[in-house]
Amino acid sequence: MTTVVSDIGLLVTNDPAVGELRDAHLVIDGGNVVEAGSGIAPAADDRVDAGGRCVIPGFVDSHTHLVFAGDRAAEFAARMAGSPYAAGGINVTIAATRAATDAELRALAAARLAEARRAGITTTEIKSGYGATVGDEARLVRLAAELTPEVTFLGAHVVPEGEDADAYVELVCGEMLAAAAPHCRWIDAFCESGAFDEDQCRTVLEAGLGVGLGLRLHANQLGYGPGVQLAVELGCASADHCAYLTDDDVDALAGDTVATFLPATDFSTRQPYPDARRVIDAGATVALATNCNPGSSYTTSMSFVLALAVRDLRMTATEALTAATLGGAQALQRDDIGWLGPGSRADFVVLDAPSYDHLVYRPGVPLIAATYVAGTRA
Ligand code: NIG
Repeated sequence: MTTVVSDIGLLVTNDPAVGELRDAHLVIDGGNVVEAGSGIAPAADDRVDAGGRCVIPGFVDSHTHLVFAGDRAAEFAARMAGSPYAAGGINVTIAATRAATDAELRALAAARLAEARRAGITTTEIKSGYGATVGDEARLVRLAAELTPEVTFLGAHVVPEGEDADAYVELVCGEMLAAAAPHCRWIDAFCESGAFDEDQCRTVLEAGLGVGLGLRLHANQLGYGPGVQLAVELGCASADHCAYLTDDDVDALAGDTVATFLPATDFSTRQPYPDARRVIDAGATVALATNCNPGSSYTTSMSFVLALAVRDLRMTATEALTAATLGGAQALQRDDIGWLGPGSRADFVVLDAPSYDHLVYRPGVPLIAATYVAGTRA
């Protein structure tokens, strides 16, 4: 069964050989794109009329913590009144999440994923990290795996209250990893003072590598530190946050490890925004993600992330859109998503706007008219 998406005013393909097309169409067969072209649209079994609007690849959200219970609105309000953000707040969500049933967590995470779809996100990475016991981490990754293939084991999110850090790292690398790994593609750790130090993160990531997981790292979120260098040294797919970078960190990011910026976090924690221009100009591959979580960034709006990236990280609208689509795909080492052309999955978004500039130019306005995943309206 073929579908043609016709009368696309502006089509962003992210295919360097094609670029952006005007008066364009997409032809979809079996959930994949078979043609992205301009001019007269071919006949097909079904037709979606884009009405002259802009069509972009679906957003690829490469960093979220969607499976949790509880609410930290009061902590956010206190922060807006001057309290600093601290990693220890994670323990509040751990307590609420442990107390929730599987059915409650499943419903909460599914509702957040549906919200993300309405926001134009077609692929979502989901981390664990609010369980922090063998049983709870195992159920969080199992529940996440019901929603996405991009599941990340983040047992090393914070040292649970009252526990010894080294003993906890041993548990993460042993029994907890063994229980979680069958449901995961990735392993991550929070490398930060107040969370885990360089040696502890190295131990965790090497254990994950040993059981075949890909590597990612929360790096340099709240201050300067060893995270970015460690991520690059270990060959992580992505170093996430990258808010505090030395010149050596920037140079290191010019290699294969994607620098993922999470500016909604810096907004919600009143932290300084990363110097994205320095990283882009050094030649790094960059991604943008929502970091949807209850403590530091409770949003599924990639449009909001784009607006921050352009206004405050001084990225161009084109750089920001590329980072939130193709960049996210590169951070997840996926070559089937983040672009539109023959061979890609038909994950796309119809905007209620003539161009993607409007996502930034009209902040806060719901411009996602329709989201399609593998050719089907979500
Ligand atoms: O990426 N930094 C670690 N984890 C989350 C915050 C989690 C929380 O505060 O609950 C983040 O910002």
